[in-house]
Amino acid sequence: MLSTIDVQKFNTLIEINNLINSDYSDVHILLTQIIDSAARLCEGEASTLLLLNRETGELYFEVALGLGTEVKKYTMKAGEGIAGWVVEHNKSVIVNDVQNDTRYLIEFFTQIGYPCKTMMAVPMRIKDECIGVIELINKKNDKYFTQDELEWLEIFSNQAAIALQNARSMERAREEIRLLQDELYTEEGYHTIIAKSPVTLEKIELIDRIAKTDSSVLILGESGVGKEIFAEQIHLRSPRNKEPFIRVNCAALPEGLLESELFGHVKGAFTHALGNRRGRFEMADGGTIFLDEIGDLPLSLQAKLLRVIQEKTFEKVGSDISQRVNVRILAATNKDIDGLVKTGEFRSDLYYRLNVLPFYIPPLRQRPEDIPELAAFFLKKCIRTIKKQFEGFSDEAMEAMLSYSWPGNVRELENCIERACVIGKPPRIQRDVLFLNNETSSSEYGAGGNRDLKRAINIFKAHFIKKILKENHWNQTETAKALDIQRTYLSRLIKELDINPKEH
Ligand SMILES: Nc1ncnc2c1ncn2[C@@H]1O[C@H](COP(=O)(O)OP(=O)(O)OP(=O)(O)O)[C@@H](O)[C@H]1O
Ligand SMILES: [Mg+2]
Repeated sequence: MLSTIDVQKFNTLIEINNLINSDYSDVHILLTQIIDSAARLCEGEASTLLLLNRETGELYFEVALGLGTEVKKYTMKAGEGIAGWVVEHNKSVIVNDVQNDTRYLIEFFTQIGYPCKTMMAVPMRIKDECIGVIELINKKNDKYFTQDELEWLEIFSNQAAIALQNARSMERAREEIRLLQDELYTEEGYHTIIAKSPVTLEKIELIDRIAKTDSSVLILGESGVGKEIFAEQIHLRSPRNKEPFIRVNCAALPEGLLESELFGHVKGAFTHALGNRRGRFEMADGGTIFLDEIGDLPLSLQAKLLRVIQEKTFEKVGSDISQRVNVRILAATNKDIDGLVKTGEFRSDLYYRLNVLPFYIPPLRQRPEDIPELAAFFLKKCIRTIKKQFEGFSDEAMEAMLSYSWPGNVRELENCIERACVIGKPPRIQRDVLFLNNETSSSEYGAGGNRDLKRAINIFKAHFIKKILKENHWNQTETAKALDIQRTYLSRLIKELDINPKEH
């Protein structure tokens, strides 16, 4: 046991404990703080935290202080070097004459230009299993590391392991909550909506306002942009959300059947009407009806729909008894409805009634910030059914997705990821399995006629910074150095550009 209690070390330990109990938003920063404190208190010139990648059996540098940025490029196999020995034997070690130790990786230290003289290394354990190694390199003033210091380092290593374990459990819990929410939603027929771009977030905000009213909404936008999923959200965020949400595709049925589908019929109303039947409006009473492909609604039914909107009454097919309903109407189309009004194919009075609150969803190419988020979401969804362990997308694959024009919008992206997941090989989805023909696409940096230079520059900046952050294992100090900017400026950019450190 430790021979004496060093007050400074003890206080640092308490500080770290407080940190561990307070924040997991960036576990990398927490680990860096722990390693930095350990090195300071045990007077190591440099310090590292290596984590074991269970799949590859390799150790990679999660934190490396005082060794330069180059070091993060290297990985080590279990058994290789002193760190590898620690993992293999799950034991701590002090080596005060590294140069003459058979485990010394002379080549590695020569390449990084940092000759190692003394070293102390301890395993990081979760439930006795070694998940990584903490090393202190070169005791200051050419002194040797002591047994006391080794025991302190073991305590710090325990703290780091707890921090990492808690952060991982937290991440798993978050993921599980999201999956359960998804399942709950799917069971009721609802979908999870993903919104990241300012454009989409603005639409979600608008929905919150629209949802409170009872006015009709006409949702417009290209095919596959998410008109139905936004309609669901209007209902889910409205006071009617405990009541039914009834969907009708106006293009799916011929006129006669559609009328009975919408309004119901009475026995004998037509040859096959063997009994009374409730229509969709009746089913939606108290809730919301979503009339999809409203541009395909025949003129005769347009008149009947107008009456429901204006008078809240209708008659079943074959009946002259009026029924009252309290239904909110949402409608959607990808057709040029203005054009249909002009050619007389769509009643202008109905158009104005429906279009009380117009809601336009822009194509995906005009909101590229949604792409990485949607892609990750669809990938996770596929992984659940296909059971392949994908970690994410290669940089090239992500760049290809960002520069593609997505004429089929979110639906096309969803199909593309599903196909890539079936064909691709873990751990990452590569560009070739996406089958995106980028030659014919417009670039995200000027997508959809958007020529705003500042926006294009910001999109580029966010990508570039994310890429360098990834290369530096999300260490902001190292990334700032690589980018040749101040650490505080990088922090500000991360915030402003809405770069999520939890994405890695
Ligand atoms: N923001 C989003 N988050 C998650 N999934 C989305 C989002 N937008 C669209 N999707 C998914 O993309 C697919 C297409 O969306 P949706 O059916 O709502 O599009 P649409 O505009 O109604 O298309 P169409 O005009 O062809 O009917 C669906 O599987 C939907 O769940
Ligand atoms: Mg639709």
